[in-house]
Amino acid sequence: MRSLRLAVAVLLTAISLALLASCQPRPDAGSTPALSHADSLKLQQESVATSEAAMRGGRAFLSHCAMCHGTGGNGDGDAAQGIRKEGVTVARLNDAELMDRLTRKQIVEVITKGGGHTNRSNIMPAWGEKVDAQTISDIADFVVLLRTANPAVPRATLAAYLQSPAGVPADGREMFVHHCVACHGDAGKGDGPYGLRLIQEHNVHPRDLTDTAYIGGRSDKDLFAVITLGGGHFRKAVYMPAWTVTLTPAQVKNLVAYVREISHTPSKP
Ligand code: HEC
Ligand code: HEC
Repeated sequence: MRSLRLAVAVLLTAISLALLASCQPRPDAGSTPALSHADSLKLQQESVATSEAAMRGGRAFLSHCAMCHGTGGNGDGDAAQGIRKEGVTVARLNDAELMDRLTRKQIVEVITKGGGHTNRSNIMPAWGEKVDAQTISDIADFVVLLRTANPAVPRATLAAYLQSPAGVPADGREMFVHHCVACHGDAGKGDGPYGLRLIQEHNVHPRDLTDTAYIGGRSDKDLFAVITLGGGHFRKAVYMPAWTVTLTPAQVKNLVAYVREISHTPSKP
């Protein structure tokens, strides 16, 4: 239980830092009108209230949801593997692509009514009669934050990205064959021999790197950072290794260029 508490504390800290970072003025935000003092005070108060609710929601999430959805919402809780054997995949609540499709209201609805009453698997339980409406609302606040949790990329990684030359796809292919196909498969579809084992045994799917919509939503910097730092750094599956020791920044950039090629997506700074 202590380690669970710790996991939630770490997660919430990371989320607050990410939120804080996203509140910093952006250099390209020139056209956005400045907030009045009263507005910004109101926003601050709202965000404090939301984060207190999310804090309570995070604790409730640990006791009610983490056994299936995982402490970070990665769909890898202790029960996920058994559920997988029944042919049902526990949803990854930190997956931006999935969660973009759900409004907060829909999240509340799924939690309250369960999967069976919302066109999903009935393995997702209904909580409406087990926990009160306030707790469900708190949990929903926490679930919404899981999606925006975006841990910082260390300065050193950014510097390495900026300092290395543009990637060459053909050179990336060479690295890919050596280091990535075991999980991601020869064509990058996420179906390599070790990848299939990860799916079977751990309910973890190596990403389909040819998925144009998903990869298209990632910047070159995002791809560089996740290959360099590994899935664990971004609270994705830890089975996606960190390559910082094995590969040079230039080699990682080649890989990014190769991933762009097989996903048919343009380079995106
Ligand atoms: C017994 C395992 C289990 C528990 C406990 C559980 N879930 Fe789920 N949940 C699932 C499964 C399995 C799905 C996927 C259902 C489907 O896609 O058919 C799911 C789906 C969801 C979805 C919908 C995602 C989508 O695909 O639209 C949300 C939101 C969700 N769960 C939130 C929660 C929250 C919050 C809790 C705790 C209050 C919780 N779940 C507890 C198994 C569980
Ligand atoms: C041991 C298995 C394994 C190996 C080897 C591996 N990956 Fe992965 N990779 C994964 C898994 C699992 C995921 C999914 C992580 C998640 O979404 O939680 C992933 C995800 C990714 C993603 C998507 C990250 C995102 O932002 O969602 C990229 C890009 C990627 N891998 C590139 C590579 C490259 C390039 C290599 C070789 C240098 C490689 N991987 C080697 C398992 C592996």
